[in-house]
Amino acid sequence: MTHVLITGGAGFIGANLVRRLLSARPDWKLVNLDLLTYAGDLSWLADLEGHPRHVFERADLAERAQVDAVFERHPIELVAHLAAESHVDRSILEPAIFVRSNVLGTQNLLDVARARKVRRFLHVSTDEVYGTLGATGKFSESTPLAPNSPYSASKAASDLLVRAAFHTFGFPAVTSRCSNNYGPRQFPEKLIPLMIANALADQPLPVYGDGQQVRDWIHVDDHCDGLLAALERGRPGEVYNFGGECELPNLTVVRTLLRILGKDERLIRYVADRPGHDRRYAIDCEKAKAELGWRPQRRFDEGLAATVDWYRAHQEWVARIRSGAYRDYYDRQYGGRLSPGGGAPR
Ligand code: NAD
Ligand code: TYD
Repeated sequence: MTHVLITGGAGFIGANLVRRLLSARPDWKLVNLDLLTYAGDLSWLADLEGHPRHVFERADLAERAQVDAVFERHPIELVAHLAAESHVDRSILEPAIFVRSNVLGTQNLLDVARARKVRRFLHVSTDEVYGTLGATGKFSESTPLAPNSPYSASKAASDLLVRAAFHTFGFPAVTSRCSNNYGPRQFPEKLIPLMIANALADQPLPVYGDGQQVRDWIHVDDHCDGLLAALERGRPGEVYNFGGECELPNLTVVRTLLRILGKDERLIRYVADRPGHDRRYAIDCEKAKAELGWRPQRRFDEGLAATVDWYRAHQEWVARIRSGAYRDYYDRQYGGRLSPGGGAPR
């Protein structure tokens, strides 16, 4: 049995990856390390309780002793590192926690994994480390890092620490950088689930600025396929970009959601823009295609409709989140923007 550590396995992508790996690799035992911040939700994994190949370990990556203890308990050979603070807007409100979890947390994990001589370490990063694009061009793996938000700066810092571990110590680390994910179980602070949840509740949909910022959308299952390929076949020291080859302006995504949901476009509110808002992301993922034999396969229209169905069927979960601590965040983030005179309705 190969013991595989997944960090952040109670989060959006991590929980989807756990399920994918359990079914795809019957000889892998997954050790799921997660702090269970606001974004981690064990209820997704409730049906895995007692599963012979999945064990959950609550730990904080920023506390080195806690990471050590997990490696002490399990003979870990492979690591997929997903745990992070992941939301740009929260990083603008409170940057320091991003440094703690994303930078210090990654260094602690690198140190312990190196001391334990793991065979392969996959560092899961984001296209946002490359900064922003104009109307043309795409990010390739050799695009210089130029992060613009505290979130992307903390991810870029962690990417560089991983790079240094490879170059200095020969540590077998691979880095992946993916574009915007969507799909089931995404926390409703991110664009797509937030808009679905608001529309289902007939609440205003806060579109930042002119809504013409472009993101490249990839279904989380396509990302997870890429992560498995990179973990098994990625070359140490290399970076692999993953993207959905599906560039869309935010407004188009929001309008498409309203159409699927049968809701009126008058729910859209143009609100004050995000400070430092990156204008456009686009990914060149030819290297992953050529070297890993991977390509994005899910169509956006089908994936989005299925995602809407999922959120419709899980409205209780969304309602539970929206009635708890998330409400304070929402008020802080949107209160001034959505109140009369707060934003710039057009
Ligand atoms: P998420 O916010 O849904 O989940 C993150 C998980 O990490 C949570 O379960 C949280 O409890 C855990 N965590 C946070 N700090 C921790 C700490 N100090 N110790 C242990 N666990 C901690 O995030 P996600 O969207 O699933 O993203 C996962 C990874 O993928 C992140 O590294 C993110 O940067 C990267 N990524 C995300 C996207 C995207 O579109 N969501 C795109 C590219 C890359
Ligand atoms: P988000 O899901 O936060 O991902 P990221 O900022 O990491 O790309 O946002 C996606 C896009 O949607 C981004 O351009 C910001 C925009 N956005 C809004 O217009 N309104 C919102 O309420 C949110 C959360 C995002």
